[in-house]
Amino acid sequence: MAAITLVCCRPASVLPRIFSDGSPVVLASVPVAVQQRKVHHSVIPRGKGGRSSFSGISATVFGATGFLGRYVVNRLGRMGSQIVIPHRCDQYDIMYLRPMGDLGQIIFLEWDARNKETIKRAMAHSNVVINLVGREWETRNYRFEDIYVSIPQAIAKAAREAGIPKLIHMSHLNADIRSPSKYLRNKAVGERAVRDEFPDAVIMKPSEMFGREDRFLNHFANMRWFGRAVPMIALGKKTVKQPVHVVDVAKAIVNAIKDPDSNGKTYALVGPNRYLLHDLVEYVYAVAYRPFVPYPMPRPLYHMIAKFFEINPFEPWTTCDKVDRLHLTDMKYPGLPGLEDLGIVPSSVEQKAIEVLRRHRRFRWLEAELGETKPAKTVDI
Ligand SMILES: NC(=O)c1ccc[n+]([C@@H]2O[C@H](COP(=O)([O-])OP(=O)(O)OC[C@H]3O[C@@H](n4cnc5c(N)ncnc54)[C@H](OP(=O)(O)O)[C@@H]3O)[C@@H](O)[C@H]2O)c1
Repeated sequence: MAAITLVCCRPASVLPRIFSDGSPVVLASVPVAVQQRKVHHSVIPRGKGGRSSFSGISATVFGATGFLGRYVVNRLGRMGSQIVIPHRCDQYDIMYLRPMGDLGQIIFLEWDARNKETIKRAMAHSNVVINLVGREWETRNYRFEDIYVSIPQAIAKAAREAGIPKLIHMSHLNADIRSPSKYLRNKAVGERAVRDEFPDAVIMKPSEMFGREDRFLNHFANMRWFGRAVPMIALGKKTVKQPVHVVDVAKAIVNAIKDPDSNGKTYALVGPNRYLLHDLVEYVYAVAYRPFVPYPMPRPLYHMIAKFFEINPFEPWTTCDKVDRLHLTDMKYPGLPGLEDLGIVPSSVEQKAIEVLRRHRRFRWLEAELGETKPAKTVDI
């Protein structure tokens, strides 16, 4: 009976997807009411606000299978949202996302970023679209221009045409058309392209994000595999970083969805402290109870080594672009709203690094408390 009630009130075109592994016989025998997205009762908030209620948010999250994606999906799921997850991998590889929402509230859908129809189909029943698509390196199939300009532009265009009221686009704090990093130059072009297509889009500019699955603190901690010493351009003493915790970024996305005033704004999402890269990496090694042996590496030599990793047909450990990106000083945007404007108190590296770095410790130190580790020196430049 419950199933029949649900069938009656769903828009017709959602049905084949929701019941793709259910009973077609039930579908055929039941009259279906086609209703507009805005008046449909299934998107009216109800319940006490937990995973089994409905928040009124029906979100399509492109790039949900990445690092930030799982935190965003979990945040949306635990307040009772319906989430459409377009994916290109095997469904079984992303089963860890399914328990993040209530039964039937997470819908997996195959998509191809070059196929505009699949983009439209993914957002056909959503009132929020979030674009987290990204890649740290280029492949033969997808260059940075595709990932950071063409795909976001296509998503923004499809969202505007579908009348979606909220689009969240992820950019990068250091996105700049004059940047030495191709990734960051394309991020800057992508930001503009999204704004032109969808003027009300909310653009998020996080600095490097840290968290359990990050490619920042883990990247530096893993450098001990290469001769137990950490190569850094100018010993990391000319680079200032202001990393942000991934959970804070996920919270910012959810709060921006709830805040009607966020439309059309650009947010700079950074952590509370700025550090010299050298001091930050020293702290990483202190938390991991490993000896810290930095040595200065000239940029051209670093690039030569990175080129060797780039030949790798699998995920390259580093690339020339990543070397440049990691050694760029984080920009300051005093004029842009940030985490505090979305009601979030940013977490510092000292508060959260242990979660990321405990696994880099030797067995002997696995349970050791942080107590004696000196916090990293902060700077104000
Ligand atoms: N990580 C950071 O520190 C950081 C900092 C600032 C900004 N950002 C930006 O924030 C966003 C999310 O970052 P993240 O670290 O979560 O990224 P990520 O872990 O690399 O995940 C990227 C996601 O994009 C999808 N994707 C990549 N190329 C695709 C393609 N050609 N077609 C379809 N899907 C594709 C991936 O799908 P598959 O799983 O199928 O590959 C994955 O779901 C990105 O735009 C990134 O540039 C990240």
